[in-house]
Amino acid sequence: MRIQVLTLFPAMFEGFQTNSIIARAIGKGVVDFSAVQIRDYTKDKYGRTDTPPIGGGAGLVQKAQPIVDCIKANKKEGTHVILMSPRGATFNQNMAKKFAKLDDLMIVCGHYEGVDERVNDYIDELVSIGDYVLTGGEIPAMAIADSVIRLLDGAITRESLDEESFDNNTLEYPQYTEPFDFEGKTVPAILYSGNHGAIAKWRRKQSLLLTRKYRPDLFDKLTLSKADLKLLEEADSGIVPKWEADAIEKGKKFMH
Ligand code: ADE
Repeated sequence: MRIQVLTLFPAMFEGFQTNSIIARAIGKGVVDFSAVQIRDYTKDKYGRTDTPPIGGGAGLVQKAQPIVDCIKANKKEGTHVILMSPRGATFNQNMAKKFAKLDDLMIVCGHYEGVDERVNDYIDELVSIGDYVLTGGEIPAMAIADSVIRLLDGAITRESLDEESFDNNTLEYPQYTEPFDFEGKTVPAILYSGNHGAIAKWRRKQSLLLTRKYRPDLFDKLTLSKADLKLLEEADSGIVPKWEADAIEKGKKFMH
């Protein structure tokens, strides 16, 4: 997949491209990522890309010509062009999955007080990362590129993508590492049971409980199965269910 970010601040993407999973994905050829300097396309004799808005008002607005020429020079047939804008639909995991299926994504970053309205005619979709205003689209572009790249084949292991947060509108279950006892807080015994069925059931229960607690908005949208309702009922009763107690008990015997 190719991802091009059109920006006045390509240096902001240097750290993004040269660290961790994204750097590795680029190195492996999973993604062809570039940050393109919009200023290189300005026809203004002083190299300007922004001016005060016509009609008055605060700050500077990005001119249409450099952005539109930068889009035209770098897009191919079939490139999906998005503009980062607080006006757009709020980005989510489903959008990340949709973008990850594309061959070519172009992310245009506005900066300062916004962009000339006429730029919108060269854009396929407006995307926001939430209801707050940033100084520019660079951080939103990074968030989007990051969430898309990690979904591409070869970026991370398949298993890491299974059962992750927001799949099926639930938050991911809690994870633990060694040691067993950290400052008196212990790892749930079921995770040592070796009983994969019971562990999966326990994780589903935790996932439902976490979603209900932290994201009631998502929880309300869930279609709960009979088994899910039973798990929640068990949890709310405060009594450890038999299947869980049995799995823990058997696991103990197995370990000794
Ligand atoms: N540009 C400024 N704020 C933004 C936001 N919340 N999302 C996307 N682009 C932006």
